[in-house]
Order: sequence, then structure tokens, then C-alpha cells
Amino acid sequence: MLEIPGNVFPRRLDALLPMAKKAQGIYIEDENGKQYMDASGGAIVVNAGHGRKKIAKAIYDQILSHDYIHPTMFATKSVEMLAASLAKKAPREINRFYFFSGGSEANEAAIKLARQIHIENGNETKYRLIGRWKSYHGLTLGSLAAMGRTSFKKYFTPLLKENLHIPAPYCYRCSFGLTYPSCKVRCAMALDEMIENAGPQTISTFIAETIPGASIAACFPPDEYLQTIVRICDHHNVLLILDEVMCGMGRTGEWFACNHFDVVPDILTLGKGLAGGVMALSAFGVKETHFNTIKDNSGAFMHGGTFSHHPVAAAAGLALIEILEQEKLVFRVKIKGEKLGDLLKKHLLPLAQVGDVRGKGFMWGIEIVKDKKTKQPFKRSLKIVEGLWDALFEKGYITYKSSGLAGVDGDALVISPPYIIGDDEMEMLVKAIKSTFIEFFN
Ligand SMILES: Cc1ncc(COP(=O)(O)O)c(C=O)c1O
Repeated sequence: MLEIPGNVFPRRLDALLPMAKKAQGIYIEDENGKQYMDASGGAIVVNAGHGRKKIAKAIYDQILSHDYIHPTMFATKSVEMLAASLAKKAPREINRFYFFSGGSEANEAAIKLARQIHIENGNETKYRLIGRWKSYHGLTLGSLAAMGRTSFKKYFTPLLKENLHIPAPYCYRCSFGLTYPSCKVRCAMALDEMIENAGPQTISTFIAETIPGASIAACFPPDEYLQTIVRICDHHNVLLILDEVMCGMGRTGEWFACNHFDVVPDILTLGKGLAGGVMALSAFGVKETHFNTIKDNSGAFMHGGTFSHHPVAAAAGLALIEILEQEKLVFRVKIKGEKLGDLLKKHLLPLAQVGDVRGKGFMWGIEIVKDKKTKQPFKRSLKIVEGLWDALFEKGYITYKSSGLAGVDGDALVISPPYIIGDDEMEMLVKAIKSTFIEFFN
């Protein structure tokens, strides 16, 4: 048994982790002076790079000006300004923002909000939630119940509300054995079928990641997938929550990932990069019409939280947006993301164990297979992605792990660097991944 010194209940109980000492730009340094390229921005969070003075100053100034202010007692400028800034960038109609600390929290609140909107519109029988298999929405009980990754649920099933799930738009391993475009997005039509079977009068919400991130490793859905989903939701009066906790805030080369598809959800959730990873900040954004439904009926969303609408976190979020704007980093992601994708495809796709390379902007997935022809995955018990991840970490490159892509088996690495990564650094990174794959599998 591994002895774990100290008093922290750490996230990992199977390893003693290096002590971080400094993080600047796209690099993290440990206390022994070893440098790591943060090619995943932690958990796909750090977007403007580490150690941003502008964000530090904004937080400092906000604390000295007014720090904790309870959101039912005062309004605060930084929160007002952040909401206004997000509303300008968000798809039309998404106009009202409610702030929290984590992505799971934002998703749970969104699920509650959808239910309350239905009640206030006189549709009390609508309460059930549909999610997608393999999705990830967070690990608190409500978000865990919504998600479709069963490995995270196994100890907690008796505590979880049973929700409904449909297959994900995962073309590499289509649940229907079909091929795009002749499939006619069968995976989207599965929503219609599920709603019809369950009874449209009972369904409140459909929740999905706009572009799945860690769950199926940056698998970009077919063009008409989300438009079909929106049509089905509208037809059955089911409210659509798009989870952009990972793929929002410029990560895929658009401020909001749903802009790629020209769709507008009823509720959109954000987190992770919303304050560049510097402060714990998340949010939902909702259409003005739904906001008015709540305001003009019960007059209160039955929700809250001690740290909701936190002015210091909001100041960090505002500073982050200013950086992204001033340095045109979202546009940079769009352009440089293509280069990163080309490099990954060129160097990795020829490898025997790389089944697929896919993604958008600075969110790319490398799916690892045992047999490229049959797409047979490695058994989960072999912990292939963990081994690759460790080997890359040892060399000083931080990536992100994904598993369970084919049932419980299947592995992928996600590459999602901060938006400031340079061309040379992208090349170094891809070469390091290639050599690590070759060494690991030989
Ligand atoms: C798409 C998505 N939604 C929600 C979450 C949960 O966010 P948090 O870990 O901040 O609760 C995550 C976290 O990885 C995520 O990727």
C-alpha cells in the first residue's frame, strides 16, 4: 500500500504527485525545476495561459474594492459587466446569466431551471430528463445521474435518479452501425423516438455537450445533428440544455461551440475556462423569454448558493474575456487549431494504434485502438491511456485522458493547449506524442 503523507485527501490515491512551484504561459514547473508543457490546460481549463497579470490585478482590485457580497442583498458591477459581456457574444436570445463555481453545479441548476420553466408555463407533468450515453456533465449527484458514463456511477446507482439516454453522435463507433451522411443522422432521430416512447408530456429536458470533450474525445457531431435535435425539442416542447462547460469560451474557435451549428439552446452552461482557470467560475445562460416566464409567474428561481454571483470570480472572468478579445485569441484558436489538427493527423494517423484523430480548434482527440481495421479497442484493464499519459508526463508533456469509448473499454488522449501555444511548441508536442506512442507500443 502506498503511504500518502500529509493531511490532504488527494484526488489520486495511487501516486505521489510532484509539487508544483510555478506556472507561467503554457508551462508548469515542479519544485525540482522540471518543466512540463501544459498541453491540456489542466482539465481543458487554462485558455489564456498561466500567470496572467491582468487577471491577478483584476482580482486584487476587486477584493480591495468589494469582495464577498451576498447576491440577494446587493448587485455588483463585475457580475453585471460579465453577464453583459457574455450576452453580447452568446447566441441571440441567450441574454440572462446566473453564476456558480463549478460545471456540475451549473448543469444541475440548468436542469432545475428547465423543470421550473415548464411548471410556470402550466406543464407540470414534464419532469423527465434525457441525456446521451457516454456524456459527461459532472460528478455531483444530479449531474452524475444526467451523464451517460456508467463507470462513474457504479458505486452510486442507488442514490441516482434514473434518467433516459440515447446514443451519442459518435461517427467513429456509430451505435447504429451506419455511416454519415447516408445515416441521415439516425442518432438525432433517436431523440424523437425516445420522447415519443416515454411520452412527450413527461419530458422536461434534453441535455448534451455541444461538442463532447473528454467523454468521446473531441468528436465533432455531423453538421445537421444539432439542428435536428433543436427541431425535435421544439416539436415536443422539450427544453434543450447545451453543456459548453468544456467546449465553450473559444476552445473550439468560436466563443460558443453552438455557433458552429447556428443553433440556440434554451439554456447553455459554461465553466472551466470562463475565468481562465484562475477562479472557480461557471454559469448558465438562458433565453430572455424563459427568464421572463420565471420573473412574471413565481417571481423567483428556486435556487441559490452562498458563492453564486461572486464579484471576485466575475472580475477574473471579465479580465479573461478582455485578454481573449485584446489578443484575438479565439480567432487564433480557429486558425492555429487547424495547424494543430494537421500536425496530429500527419504524424499520428499512420501509427498502427491510432484509430482516429478528430477535433476542432484547440480540442483534439486521439483514439487508440488495438486493431485499426476492426476498431477493436484495448481492454480497459490494460490501462493503455494511463500508461501513455504517464510516459508523456515523465517527458514533460501534460495531456488529458479519456476512456470507455467502446463500452467500458477504449482509450483516447485529448490535446487542448492554452490558446497562446506557439507553432514550434505545437511541433515539439506532436513529435513527443509520436515518439511516446512508438516507444510505448514497441
Ligand atoms: C462537458 C462537461 N460538463 C460538466 C463538467 C463538470 O464540471 P466541474 O468538474 O467543474 O463540475 C465537465 C468537467 O469535466 C465537463 O467536461
